[in-house]
Amino acid sequence: MRGDGPLDQPHTSRIYDYFLGGKDNYEIDRRAAQEILTVWPTIRTAARVNRQFMHRSTRFLAEAGIRQFLDIGTGIPTEPNLHRIAQEIAPDSRVVYVDNDPLVLAHARALMMGGEQGATTYLHGDVTEPLDILGAPELAEIIDLGEPVGLSMIALLHFVEDDVDRILSTFLDALAPGSYLVICTITADFAPEQVEAAQDVYRVRKLPAQVRTRAEVTGWFAGLDLVDPGVVPPHRWRLGAGDEMPAAFDAKVSCYCGVARKP
Ligand SMILES: C[S@@+](CC[C@H](N)C(=O)[O-])C[C@H]1O[C@@H](n2cnc3c(N)ncnc32)[C@H](O)[C@@H]1O
Repeated sequence: MRGDGPLDQPHTSRIYDYFLGGKDNYEIDRRAAQEILTVWPTIRTAARVNRQFMHRSTRFLAEAGIRQFLDIGTGIPTEPNLHRIAQEIAPDSRVVYVDNDPLVLAHARALMMGGEQGATTYLHGDVTEPLDILGAPELAEIIDLGEPVGLSMIALLHFVEDDVDRILSTFLDALAPGSYLVICTITADFAPEQVEAAQDVYRVRKLPAQVRTRAEVTGWFAGLDLVDPGVVPPHRWRLGAGDEMPAAFDAKVSCYCGVARKP
């Protein structure tokens, strides 16, 4: 867990908040964000498209009958948050949010406003410690691991440099058949120069960053049933009305996403 104060280093959560047009960011975050914008001028589009993918994949899971959600790498609250989307379809949906950033913890109350029938909670935790998350008492209050869970890691795993296979298999081993894994992560497959330069902006500031190829992302879903259309850029995943897909979007967005069901 990062123990540094809010102002001595940029935070990935606040940089992302800045890209989304939020107000929960500081000068140090905006400077890093501006540097990223210089090398990857369309990253705001990428952030918006990623968020739209979160909306669609959450609706998809709720429509598939999922009522328990474990969302890791939640970020600073941005309306509509995941529980709002799930509870629009299934008001009894229960959501556990997890992030390792103290800033997100400070904003957690805004995430814990589950509807009358549903419930939400926030857990301060690190995705690299799956057993701590799975064994947390706060999780057990909301989620029954004997029933299917929608596990989402959206715009998270590019901040995890290694061990993703171990992390995913530990989570998936603990989840019931019928659970889903949802991932969206950054790739350099379409625009290597801009994305690798952005990766360097994070690394220079000692923030972990790791882009992935399509083969690597596909490998993360091994043993699961990938939902159509498979591993694709998020603006190509089951588009809905109002979703964006301008020309040359693959390079602008530079992400892959996928949704898969545990058999
Ligand atoms: C780009 S934001 C994504 C927010 C949201 N999931 C979305 O897609 O809109 C990434 C979030 O992951 C969190 N994060 C980064 N590394 C993490 C880790 N090792 N464990 C838990 N959360 C982490 C950051 O603090 C940040 O809030």
